[in-house]
Amino acid sequence: MKEEEIVIDIQELKKSFGDNEVLKGMNLQLHRKENLVILGKSGTGKSVLIKCIVKLIEPDEGRLRVLDQEVKDLEADEELNKLRRRVGFLFQGGALYDSMSVRENLRFPLERLSDKPSRDEMEDRVYEALRSVGLEKAIDKMPAELSGGMKKRIALARTLILKPAIVLYDEPTTGLDPATSKEISQLILEMQQEYDISSIIITHDMACARITSNKMKVIRNGVFKYKGTYDELREKNDPWLRDFFE
Ligand SMILES: Nc1ncnc2c1ncn2[C@@H]1O[C@H](COP(=O)(O)OP(=O)(O)OP(=O)(O)O)[C@@H](O)[C@H]1O
Ligand SMILES: [Mg+2]
Repeated sequence: MKEEEIVIDIQELKKSFGDNEVLKGMNLQLHRKENLVILGKSGTGKSVLIKCIVKLIEPDEGRLRVLDQEVKDLEADEELNKLRRRVGFLFQGGALYDSMSVRENLRFPLERLSDKPSRDEMEDRVYEALRSVGLEKAIDKMPAELSGGMKKRIALARTLILKPAIVLYDEPTTGLDPATSKEISQLILEMQQEYDISSIIITHDMACARITSNKMKVIRNGVFKYKGTYDELREKNDPWLRDFFE
């Protein structure tokens, strides 16, 4: 594949917190329009890894390029904001601002843009984002009035409203029942197909992994130990890996 089609390129990335060595030399390439699922047990550095991608955490060593920019070199707020505008992040827990209505939650990222859209344009974009997650009717609701699955969808809409090229999903289906998890997983797949988004999806939910992934990587002991499609990994004859699929 051509070099310009790689949207995230991570080489030998390392990160420790004190004597806790979390990332011990991670290598990862995300290609344009690809959904990459990362699996790994709790506490193995999945969230740390994707926080490095948007410089919420600074790695100790290694190379990290996102959309052809060296993340380490992004210094000024302006440069970082530009990156974060193109790389959406759905946080683990994906909280909405409780004191704001759905409309206000969705307007929030737009209000912070240096080239802020007009009121009318903002309203259009809020509706468009809500339509993409099937929740136009919730525009005037407060988060407390929404179910867990609806909150996730709104959080997803808020991530998508800036039309990111890349979206990093940290446990998008955690805490949801299987049917709602499936809906969210299908929505992630639609986002990829409809808006040409490239994504990294961290999940423990194998149904989500099966639905969303083009490729999977599995963290073990601070490095990626296995990679392949969902079916390839499921077929591997490794008891440690098999535990994820049972
Ligand atoms: N800001 C921080 N300061 C110190 N230690 C941290 C920090 N962030 C994460 N860690 C440590 O790094 C390790 C990996 O954490 P991380 O949140 O990436 O795990 P995870 O794989 O996302 O787990 P989970 O599946 O439970 O979300 C843990 O030991 C955690 O305590
Ligand atoms: Mg995590």
